[in-house]
Amino acid sequence: MLSLLFITIIPLTLVGSVFSQVTTSPVPIVKVMADLGSNVTLPCKLYQQSSPFDNFGYRVIWTKLAEDENYNEDVLLAMGEHQKTYGNFEGRVFLHEIDTEDASIVITNVSMDDMGKYRCEIINGLFDTLQEIVLQVRGNLTDGVVFPYHPPLGRYNLNFNDAVQACADQDALVATYDQLEHAWKSGMDWCNAGWLSDGTVQYPITQPRAPCGGSNNSPGIRNYGRRDKDKSRYDVFCYASALKGHFYWLVQPDRLTYDEAVQACLDDDAEIAKVGHIYAAWKLEGYDRCDAGWLADGSIRYPISRPRKNCSPNEAAVRFVGFPDKTIKSYGVYCFKAKQ
Ligand SMILES: *[C@@H]1O[C@H](CO)[C@@H](O)[C@H](O)[C@H]1NC(C)=O
Ligand SMILES: *[C@@H]1O[C@H](CO)[C@@H](O)[C@H](O)[C@H]1NC(C)=O
Repeated sequence: MLSLLFITIIPLTLVGSVFSQVTTSPVPIVKVMADLGSNVTLPCKLYQQSSPFDNFGYRVIWTKLAEDENYNEDVLLAMGEHQKTYGNFEGRVFLHEIDTEDASIVITNVSMDDMGKYRCEIINGLFDTLQEIVLQVRGNLTDGVVFPYHPPLGRYNLNFNDAVQACADQDALVATYDQLEHAWKSGMDWCNAGWLSDGTVQYPITQPRAPCGGSNNSPGIRNYGRRDKDKSRYDVFCYASALKGHFYWLVQPDRLTYDEAVQACLDDDAEIAKVGHIYAAWKLEGYDRCDAGWLADGSIRYPISRPRKNCSPNEAAVRFVGFPDKTIKSYGVYCFKAKQ
């Protein structure tokens, strides 16, 4: 891919390899945070100044690093007036160029895929500069939904690893602090403490009351701080993204046991829905159904987005009925059909 420019560069590379001294990450790895869709500058500066080659111009190579270097991606190559961008970065990346020592790049319209580690190399003959930059992208918080979760075993049963698994089992991830904060600002109030992705345990309170961090405290996110990831046991806050498929109530005449519910969805070319699916459908698609149904974890829930008598009269919510005996025939089922 780099061939076109390399042809012109080969002589310089040879000069560089004989005389140059590579300065590897003279400063700690730089971390940059960007919001989804914004423009972000990844900084990179010539480390050593004034080499005899200055007037000759230098070469800038930006690469996105993969775990396995065979999968590194070319981002931008620049030499003098010539600039070339590659692949996914084509036309979206350009040199910042505030001054001649600046090799920073601007990435426009940042996507989640842009997240990762980048390497900037400035090759100017005598002193080469190598700098690594980590880009973190903050996803659009309104694209997903945060929900509290505890397994059939009951409340406060999950250590951190269990919590990661519990969310994964619901097609979700452990929520970040930012995601929980966003949910709290949108009115989430939950009086059970849960793990967050940073290993802290917290819970969001919008209506202060005695058992939930005190009635005199102002609304806020109550923080138990970092807990022992192996020994401490709490609930968890999970984060589900927008559905990649179709969530629905299976219309059929019978009340089902759990096993029958699982089979009924399979018979409909779908799977029994997970807790992440019901929350995403409710929050992001306004799904509303006043029928209690089985979900994959053995719980019974129903999603109400239009509060009304007998169906969550006071608030829009995914109502939780419980984890009943799996052999009772009292409920219908929610299914999920993944997009092919
Ligand atoms: C990002 O940069 C591009 C190109 O310079 C510009 O057109 C666009 O308005 C910028 N977008 C934002 C959000 O600043
Ligand atoms: C930004 O990228 C998204 C996809 O990542 C695309 O849908 C959108 O059109 C892009 N916006 C601009 C201004 O290029």
